[in-house]
Amino acid sequence: MSKPAGWLPDQSAAWSAIAADYEREFVDPYRADAVNPLLREVHGLPNQSEGTAADLGCGKGPLLPLLAAKFVTVHAVDFAEQMLHHARQRCVGLNNVRFHDASLTDLRFLHGQLDLAVAVNSLVMPDVRDIEAVLVQVRCCLRAGGRFLGIVPAMDGVHYWTMLLLDRALRRGMPMEAAEKNAAHLAEHRYFDFAFSRFSFRGIVQHFWQPFEIPWRLEKAGFRDVRIEKVLLPWDHFRLREDFTDQEPPWDWFFACRAE
Ligand SMILES: C[S@@+](CC[C@H](N)C(=O)[O-])C[C@H]1O[C@@H](n2cnc3c(N)ncnc32)[C@H](O)[C@@H]1O
Repeated sequence: MSKPAGWLPDQSAAWSAIAADYEREFVDPYRADAVNPLLREVHGLPNQSEGTAADLGCGKGPLLPLLAAKFVTVHAVDFAEQMLHHARQRCVGLNNVRFHDASLTDLRFLHGQLDLAVAVNSLVMPDVRDIEAVLVQVRCCLRAGGRFLGIVPAMDGVHYWTMLLLDRALRRGMPMEAAEKNAAHLAEHRYFDFAFSRFSFRGIVQHFWQPFEIPWRLEKAGFRDVRIEKVLLPWDHFRLREDFTDQEPPWDWFFACRAE
C-alpha cells in the first residue's frame, strides 16, 4: 500500500506518538453530552444487507463498531500504526472490518467500492493541496450516489470561544490589553496560525476549517448537495466552563454530501 510523500510521513509518526494519550488531548465529539449530527445520520442508516463503508482516518476506531453493525464490509484506514493498533483491539470479534495502514492521499485500493465514506477530524492535512487530493480520492472511492459524511475542526469555533473569554475578562474589569492576553492564553492561541488556519501541537499540524471553506473544497472535488451543521462540543472540555454554561458551547462542523 502506498505511503505518503512530502512531509506527511512526519505527521504519521506524530499521530502514532499521541495515540496512547488521544482521549486526554483531543475533544471528543462522540460523548453523550455532545450534539453530533454525524452519529444521528449513521444511526439513521438502514442496516444494509449489502454495502461497503470506510472510516477514513479511523484513529482508535470509535466509529467502527457502529459502522460494522450497519454495513457488510467496513474498511478502516489510517496512516498511524499506533492508532490502527488500538482500533484493531477495539474491533476484536468484528469479522467484517478490514484494516489498512495507508495514507488518505492514495486510496486507489478502494476506488469504485464504497457506498459510504466517513472522515471524522481526519481532513486536517496541513497543506491544503493534500486535503484537496484526499477529497478527489474519496470521490473516486464512492459509487454514484454514494454519501460522504464527516466532521472537521472549526476555526470559527475558536474565534467564538475567544470572544466569550474576552468578554468575560472585560466584565471582570480588566483593561483591554490584559483582557486580550487573558483570552489568548486561555484559548491557547500560541498553538494557532489564524491567518492560514493551522493548529500545531506535539508535532501534529492540523488544518482547521472555516464554514465557507467546506462547500468550496467539497464542490471543487466534485461533490454535490453539500450540507453543514454544527457539532456542539461538550462544555467540560473547556476551561472556566462554569462561567459559560448558559451559552452555546464551541463547535466543530459536520458535513454531508454525495458523489454523482
Ligand atoms: C483527530 S484523529 C481522529 C480519529 C478518529 N476519526 C476519531 O474520530 O476518533 C485524526 C486521525 O486521522 C489520521 N490521519 C491524518 N492524516 C492522515 C492521512 N494523510 N492519511 C491517513 N490517516 C490520516 C491520524 O493518524 C489520526 O488517527
